[in-house]
Amino acid sequence: MTQSHAKGDIKDPSLAQQGIERIEWAMKEMPVLNQIKKRFKESQPLKGMVISGCLHITCETANLALTLKSGGAKVFMCASNPLSTQDDVAAALTTQYGIPTYAINNVDNETYYQHINAVLDQKPNVTMDDGADLVATLHTEKINLLDNIIGGTEETTTGVIRLKSLAKENKLKYPIIAVNEAETKHLFDNRYGTGQSTLDGITRATNILWAGKTVVVCGYGWCGKGVALRARGMGANTIVTEVNPTRALEAAMDGHRVMSMSEASKIGDIFITLTGCMNVIAKSHFELMKNGAIIANSGHFNVEIEISALEQLSKTKNKISEAIDEYILPDKRKLYLLGEGRLINLAAAEGHPSAVMDMSFANQALCAEYLSQESKNLNLDVHNVPAKIDQLVGSLKLQSMNMYIDKLTAQQQKYLTSWSIGT
Ligand code: ADE
Repeated sequence: MTQSHAKGDIKDPSLAQQGIERIEWAMKEMPVLNQIKKRFKESQPLKGMVISGCLHITCETANLALTLKSGGAKVFMCASNPLSTQDDVAAALTTQYGIPTYAINNVDNETYYQHINAVLDQKPNVTMDDGADLVATLHTEKINLLDNIIGGTEETTTGVIRLKSLAKENKLKYPIIAVNEAETKHLFDNRYGTGQSTLDGITRATNILWAGKTVVVCGYGWCGKGVALRARGMGANTIVTEVNPTRALEAAMDGHRVMSMSEASKIGDIFITLTGCMNVIAKSHFELMKNGAIIANSGHFNVEIEISALEQLSKTKNKISEAIDEYILPDKRKLYLLGEGRLINLAAAEGHPSAVMDMSFANQALCAEYLSQESKNLNLDVHNVPAKIDQLVGSLKLQSMNMYIDKLTAQQQKYLTSWSIGT
């Protein structure tokens, strides 16, 4: 590590000024979080609490960390992915805002886990995860620290799946709130955030024209829906592959072509995985792909594309640019892997826009406050975000957009809560 333990580990402190500008710019698009930050500053709901966060280190995350600090918490941050860290943001947080941050873009796996261990060594009371690496490390290598913890939050689908498996085995040692499950999170962040930022990442990496391309979207959860929607909006012909029949049907009725991965492999120009599962694009699929096919992942972990099979199949590998690796197969076909199979929206672009992270991180901040008040009443399980918090975030966002909606009349309320009025 380049700096001593409690002071964070960053690439270059001289990037801090640029980080400050970008963090402040992002906050202009985060009015809900800003409102919470102001309230937190006055009422100090997190006073005395230590929060360790393992999230993508971006300007939006910086504003979340600053909100938690405004509420009285001591905050420590590390990266939830080795390729997503914005080094200027890490520098600003660590040197200017008093939030020690352990994150350097493009670190190896060993340093990535050293950083996770460093934030856990601060003895947090609350963990904030994006992918469940803090919880997994605590439950395996750092069980001695579990006693300090009152609860945690989880940002993403993949993390929630991991945590539910842990809870199902009765091994989860503290309550977690699944921020991802809030409507004001996944309906917006996963759909419109991933939709826009995934196309942004692929465009920045390749500068391709989307119009007229055949784009294969693997997975039709909220993220896949957003990507397919936006790809079609750019003029692409969209194909969806799925394993869930209802979702496949939904994709078909949303107007996308639906087929198996092996059929899609023969015709796709661009492949994007967003399934949360492993080896979705595997050896047999590379064997069928057209010369020039582009392959990217926008799911949380870099397991969706079977990169080891691509390496084995290839005769040569060339680095075309920071985000493009060219694989040449024995039959001379060239396949292009973007961002080493890591989530392309953060590896080659800046992640979701601030306006959408506003809602996700407002949920995070309010859930930290909720844990400070209610954790003793929560059992050792993965809990949904309380509806009150979810609805508050939605209302505040609407207000910030100057939109005002109707209220039910007393008569309508009565109608909706009674069973006696029929035809
Ligand atoms: N996940 C996706 N986009 C993000 C962003 N901009 N900041 C933090 N986490 C993200």
